[in-house]
Amino acid sequence: MKNDSTRRDFLAFSGLTALALPAFAEATPSTDDSHGYINFLKGKGEDIVPEGKWKATHADILGPFWAGGAPYRGKVTPPLAPGELLVMRGRMWSHRTREPLAHTVLDVWQADHKGVYDFQTAQRTDKRPTLADARGFSGGTQPARKNFKNRIRLITDEQGYYEYETIKPAAYGIGRTTRPAHIHYMAQAKGHARVITQCYFKGDKHIANDPWASKSPLIVDLKKVKGEYGAYLQGQFDLVLATANA
Ligand SMILES: [Fe+2]
Repeated sequence: MKNDSTRRDFLAFSGLTALALPAFAEATPSTDDSHGYINFLKGKGEDIVPEGKWKATHADILGPFWAGGAPYRGKVTPPLAPGELLVMRGRMWSHRTREPLAHTVLDVWQADHKGVYDFQTAQRTDKRPTLADARGFSGGTQPARKNFKNRIRLITDEQGYYEYETIKPAAYGIGRTTRPAHIHYMAQAKGHARVITQCYFKGDKHIANDPWASKSPLIVDLKKVKGEYGAYLQGQFDLVLATANA
């Protein structure tokens, strides 16, 4: 079947089943940065609106804490990390085809239950930084890859679906701004513009005064659900990827 072949080729290309680059592999087309993405939308005369309406997903800032090369796994936080358990799930969609986007690469990164990123703990090995320590923070130090924490990559399945387990991150202070709790996303799929964005959570008192969250339609309404082993939070977050800018 063609789909099986595509899947197999993709796996090989991703290095999941082979370490040598196959002869058939093609270079990945370059994608726009977030500013190019916004310009693309504006050029099309499109509003930046919530997902689910066949509009390309609202872009947000990359922020200072993204790091390339995060491990591929379905759980963001380390084993036994404290915090309120959260399962996020959703689908990637192609704005052009209106079909789910299989094999989209998602980067997901976030702060911990105290609003602290691994960049910040990498800077201070003597003690765990507090939220107050984080105020005035201006970049930090990227941790060694083996010490990456609260950051992963994922690949969507054949139906464009993804799911991961994490904890709900806390708000944190940068300078005089308190950023509402949020999770960062970067989504990349062949033939589509790269999307860098963030999702926020409904009811967060810091959204209104945050320069980015206050302009974002991507406010997820977390539901408390009862699973087989207890209650946890669950959020739905779909993204619609625009066609790559020619
Ligand atoms: Fe952040």
